[in-house]
Amino acid sequence: MTAHTPDPPLALLAELTHRCPLACPYCANPLELERASAELDPATWLRVLDEAAALGVLQVHFSGGEPCARRDLVELVARAAQNGLYSNLITSGVTLDAAGLARLTEAGLDHLQLSFQDSEHASADRIGGYRGGHRRKIEVAALVRAAGLPLTANFVVHRQNLERLPDMLALGEQIGASRIEIAHVQYYGWGLVNRAALMPTRAQLEAANAEVERARAALHGRITIDYVVPDYYAARPKACMGGWGRRIMNITPSGHALPCHAAETLPGLHFPFVTTTSLAAIWREDPCFARFRGTGWMPEPCASCDRREIDWGGCRCQAFALLGDAAATDPACALSPDHGVMAEAVAEAGGEGPDFVYRRIGAAAIA
Ligand code: SF4
Ligand code: FES
Repeated sequence: MTAHTPDPPLALLAELTHRCPLACPYCANPLELERASAELDPATWLRVLDEAAALGVLQVHFSGGEPCARRDLVELVARAAQNGLYSNLITSGVTLDAAGLARLTEAGLDHLQLSFQDSEHASADRIGGYRGGHRRKIEVAALVRAAGLPLTANFVVHRQNLERLPDMLALGEQIGASRIEIAHVQYYGWGLVNRAALMPTRAQLEAANAEVERARAALHGRITIDYVVPDYYAARPKACMGGWGRRIMNITPSGHALPCHAAETLPGLHFPFVTTTSLAAIWREDPCFARFRGTGWMPEPCASCDRREIDWGGCRCQAFALLGDAAATDPACALSPDHGVMAEAVAEAGGEGPDFVYRRIGAAAIA
């Protein structure tokens, strides 16, 4: 590889659709959700999977919205398998049944990630905006294990459910997950809209950190626990997406190729479509993918910081959402001159907070 040719992406995040029966108030999809009529046709997705494998991608994550809403999902999983791509289905599970799972398994699905909103039925259904959803997920987890698929249980945590973290970890163990992901809400898109209702208190965060450490020790060797902490309480930012344009390519339902799921919020960047440009050309040559790749774009204090090739300056979308400047140091970093905006948001944390603004197609007016 020359200095100008980036290594291939490790993973393709295929956002097949924004349609979803749930309405979580921290959804990572954009505020302006794409309608079914704008979605890529099956033939284009099949070509994208071929191009991904040829580019050197190793994993494909089928996500959404709810990827099971796509009628061609089995065909896409089969094509991924034919291409030697490791496939992961990221699903709410509520529309899956045994026959559907059997078709996906026969097609070569490698792994399934099931999202949970809480450990307790009423709260989970309220947060997801879908009555009966939690009960259905537990049934689906049993089907997944019966089908012999490895299962990750994903719990998104925030002020309104963190007190039940021990129960969430117990539920993950009970349903036979080999991996449990505890992910604090990330505050952009719908999460930012609902920040005042979701932001944990520092006491909650400290209790959660201790609980995760306890569970890691107790489950060592049996269940892996991934833990994503909230930027707002961090002293240094996360390496968002493993660095812009370094490890992951994200394709939206309509075929926009992005370095991360929120990149369309950034002004002045016109991301290419997979309908007109090959994945290889996008990854290697597109100026939007190159815009924040590496360290050459960095301002101080990042430019001379010894962590610049560890966190890659943090999250561009968070810098834009909170500071109006996508090229600024992520304010999650304590070295950022703008770190104070995080403290202001943390000061909001407490009490019941406002009602949720639920994610709905056609609800973008709140943006
Ligand atoms: Fe990361 Fe920049 Fe902060 Fe250094 S100054 S820790 S590179 S965000
Ligand atoms: Fe876009 Fe972090 S979500 S760079």
